[in-house]
Amino acid sequence: MKFFIDTANIDEIREANALGILDGVTTNPSLVAKENVSFHDRLREIAAEVTQGSISAEVISLKAEEMIEEGKQLAAIAPNITIKVPMTPDGLKAVKVFKELGIKTNVTLIFSANQALLAARAGATYVSPFLGRLDDIGHDGLALIEQIADIFAIHGIETEIIAASIRHPMHITEAALKGAHIATVPYKVLMQLFNHPLTDIGIEKFLADWNKTKEGKA
Ligand code: E4P
Repeated sequence: MKFFIDTANIDEIREANALGILDGVTTNPSLVAKENVSFHDRLREIAAEVTQGSISAEVISLKAEEMIEEGKQLAAIAPNITIKVPMTPDGLKAVKVFKELGIKTNVTLIFSANQALLAARAGATYVSPFLGRLDDIGHDGLALIEQIADIFAIHGIETEIIAASIRHPMHITEAALKGAHIATVPYKVLMQLFNHPLTDIGIEKFLADWNKTKEGKA
């Protein structure tokens, strides 16, 4: 399973990219609004940092024709921009056109296996089922990832599953086990993945032992 970072904050993106584990970035209107910057300018900054991986930029329009225009402008910013569209009939009409134009798409706000199947059949590059928001209303977000992964495997569908709305490290482990291709992860959760008390204790012990040696004292 690959890692995308779910943020529009350029410092977080730089930090995550420096770790060598980053395969892409996802943004959404709420994440961009927190930054108080021009969306297009921020996308240019992100594209200068993440030159290979996918960068999802979400359209705001709700009508297919407007989404297509908006998406074309966003896609012109950098070759690795992926257009994020909502899971609606108009969204899928736009996906079909973007596919014909060779523009990658990420269908967002997926909450059922049927929505994922529809998006895949329309030609989506990625589908984004939202784990955390399903868990919030007492549904099983991880079961949805498993269903979608099973359906895509049975039918040989190449659309990749992005586990989105990730809230904590166990979401990551479980999403990987259930067959998500990618997890898009907030910076805070990404950094939590590094932590284990035995790692900290181990480093302390190695250093303490080293300092007892002749070389450690030198
Ligand atoms: C990613 O593509 C989604 O926009 C994001 O993961 C949503 O997360 P949230 O439910 O924490 O807002």
